[in-house]
Amino acid sequence: MSFRGWLGVAKLLPGSSRRRPLVVTASPKTNTRVAVNMAEEAKKLAAYAAVDNHVQNNQVVGVGSGSTIVYAVDRLAARVRQEKMNIICVPTSFQARQLIVQHGLMLSDLDRHPELDVTIDGADEVDADLTLIKGGGGCLTQEKIVAGCARHFVVIADYRKDSKALGQQWKKGVPIEVVPMAYVPVSRRIVRLFGGEANLRMAVSKAGPVVTDNSNFILDWKFERPHNWKDVNSAIKMIPGVVETGLFVAMAERVYFGMEDGRVQVRDAPID
Ligand code: 5RP
Repeated sequence: MSFRGWLGVAKLLPGSSRRRPLVVTASPKTNTRVAVNMAEEAKKLAAYAAVDNHVQNNQVVGVGSGSTIVYAVDRLAARVRQEKMNIICVPTSFQARQLIVQHGLMLSDLDRHPELDVTIDGADEVDADLTLIKGGGGCLTQEKIVAGCARHFVVIADYRKDSKALGQQWKKGVPIEVVPMAYVPVSRRIVRLFGGEANLRMAVSKAGPVVTDNSNFILDWKFERPHNWKDVNSAIKMIPGVVETGLFVAMAERVYFGMEDGRVQVRDAPID
């Protein structure tokens, strides 16, 4: 049923002589469910478009992390089966590795395949220049490494990630992976340099902090104003104890946005 269809369902009251129409409006819970379904459909559209347009036989493909990438791996596995393709996959996280294995795809790593044809990954937010915030799932370091080894880095996202400027849509801040012993000094330094607040990310189903696939911690830096992201990224990376930032500057070549109306919108990086 369409979004509109869910929102206003008119029924006739049984047993009523005048048969007054009863308008059933969706509860906030139903609205949330509809929005979630639309976002999932949008993720799938973006993921399928990216896999169909950017993956060819005999390629090495970087596999990103998160919930959108799940659709891309589904599509990739279906194409590999149907078209009898020879595709080698390099994961960006433990989750990506599991997806590759569970789908029966060929698993490799950067030791054996340090040069990739394409990496496909999700994002938490994408600005007008295709600067990304990534790391909502805590996998930013491996994601940046694998993206950096690919000839083409393609991003898949739903319409909620599309922003003119970073911070408009994504309110959780820029994830920054840090060596555990350094999280307090790094957090203080970032705030002193750029303002805002940098908080240690806490686990949800475990006591204590989130521990990354690289055994590090994550700081989420909530910034207060727009910045020059290239400069900020370089400056934060210079702080001792910082492993990587979730700012992906001038890396993405193309973003596929799945839209609410079922279209897929494509945005390319600006030409320098
Ligand atoms: C994980 C990431 C993800 O790609 C990002 O969080 C987007 O995830 P999702 O597809 O679930 O919205 O950077 O570290």
